[in-house]
Amino acid sequence: MDVRSIKNQILYCTLFVLLLLFYCGWMKRAEFPIFYYSNSTWNVTILIWYWPFGDTLSLTGDVCWDLYKIPSCRLVDQHSSFPSADVVVFHNRELIEGSQKLPTDLPRPQGQRWAWMSLESPAHNGNLQKFANIFNMTISYRRDADVTTPYGQLLPAEPEGNLEDSHMNKTSLVCWVVSNYMNHHKRTQVYNELKAIVPVDVYGRWSQKPLSSDDLLPTISRCYFYLAFENSVAKDYITEKLWYNAYKGGAVPIVLGPPISDYNVVAPNHSFIHVDEFASVQKLGEYLQRLAEDRKQYEEYFNWKKHWKVKVHGDWREYMCKICLQYNNLPQHKVYSDLEAWDKNA
Ligand SMILES: *[C@@H]1O[C@H](CO)[C@@H](O)[C@H](O)[C@H]1NC(C)=O
Ligand SMILES: *[C@@H]1O[C@H](CO)[C@@H](O)[C@H](O)[C@H]1NC(C)=O
Ligand SMILES: *[C@@H]1O[C@H](CO)[C@@H](O)[C@H](O)[C@H]1NC(C)=O
Ligand SMILES: *[C@@H]1O[C@H](CO)[C@@H](O)[C@H](O)[C@H]1NC(C)=O
Ligand SMILES: *[C@@H]1O[C@H](CO)[C@@H](O)[C@H](O)[C@H]1NC(C)=O
Repeated sequence: MDVRSIKNQILYCTLFVLLLLFYCGWMKRAEFPIFYYSNSTWNVTILIWYWPFGDTLSLTGDVCWDLYKIPSCRLVDQHSSFPSADVVVFHNRELIEGSQKLPTDLPRPQGQRWAWMSLESPAHNGNLQKFANIFNMTISYRRDADVTTPYGQLLPAEPEGNLEDSHMNKTSLVCWVVSNYMNHHKRTQVYNELKAIVPVDVYGRWSQKPLSSDDLLPTISRCYFYLAFENSVAKDYITEKLWYNAYKGGAVPIVLGPPISDYNVVAPNHSFIHVDEFASVQKLGEYLQRLAEDRKQYEEYFNWKKHWKVKVHGDWREYMCKICLQYNNLPQHKVYSDLEAWDKNA
């Protein structure tokens, strides 16, 4: 090998290294996260483009860690963080109402995901056809969403001391709290049939017996049964009516909503009574009357409390932080080409 070819090799090598350095520096860091983070998998920035329902919450400190023990998950709400955000969250309500817009004019950084978020049933999500080919992920109560944000969930519990006591002092057979009463709701038909068979105490805006949030659980606790009737019947749509009103109130929930199988995967065994278990509302009413008179059988609907406790979701920050728990399981590339179909054909 002569001196000249060695010189050429050095030159080529130098050029190659320079080009590589230039290339890496020029590429956005999101494309080569490994060069920039030693622990990239856990460091996720979630940008809340606007707060759902305008309900602004504090993001000072390490919110996800401090409140929910979720590590290395940064929540931000300044638009200036857009270029460095891994996920940008858009809550559906404001988009369909038109009070907020998608930043479609901004160049979307490589690897950034746009998330569509809604906790409403499909009937209340509006027409989503205009959102074709925009979003990379969904955040919803649905189990098949990319990030599932249920209204409540079970956690293992220490056995509770005195179970019996919590179910004493029942003065009403069946209670219902309803503010949005609509004749076309399936639940309205069932209520009308049921009240012809057993007494139903109705509270809420519709009955002109509104309950303050302080009065809600004490009132429900005086009822044997609580009508945890959803306003829409949709896959996985099980709301705080079950998790909070009924379970926390200490009344046995009578549920109307998705099929029994949807309840069985999230709710404890023998903790609720599904309207579909009965051939008719008449049969349901008769069963409730018998059950309320049979202390032992009634108490069996609370046995689950020996093994489980209910966790009702916290505020919006908890849902946002949950994105980080799923972040590493998200598909590398995904686009919802027809969000309307995903939402409506659940
Ligand atoms: C990565 O981050 C996690 C959570 O913050 C931490 O427990 C772990 O030690 C980190 N690993 C490395 C290699 O830095
Ligand atoms: C995650 O990012 C924050 C600030 O963005 C930094 O302070 C922290 O050290 C990072 N954690 C890891 C595990 O890299
Ligand atoms: C039941 O009612 C009695 C009398 O009103 C009261 O002293 C007691 O604390 C109540 N028990 C529960 C569990 O609410
Ligand atoms: C749930 O109910 C079924 C049938 O009644 C029973 O076999 C099963 O052991 C129960 N599971 C739990 C976790 O209690
Ligand atoms: C997100 O969706 C956009 C728009 O369809 C697409 O260009 C981009 O590649 C997607 N990103 C990921 C990470 O899936």
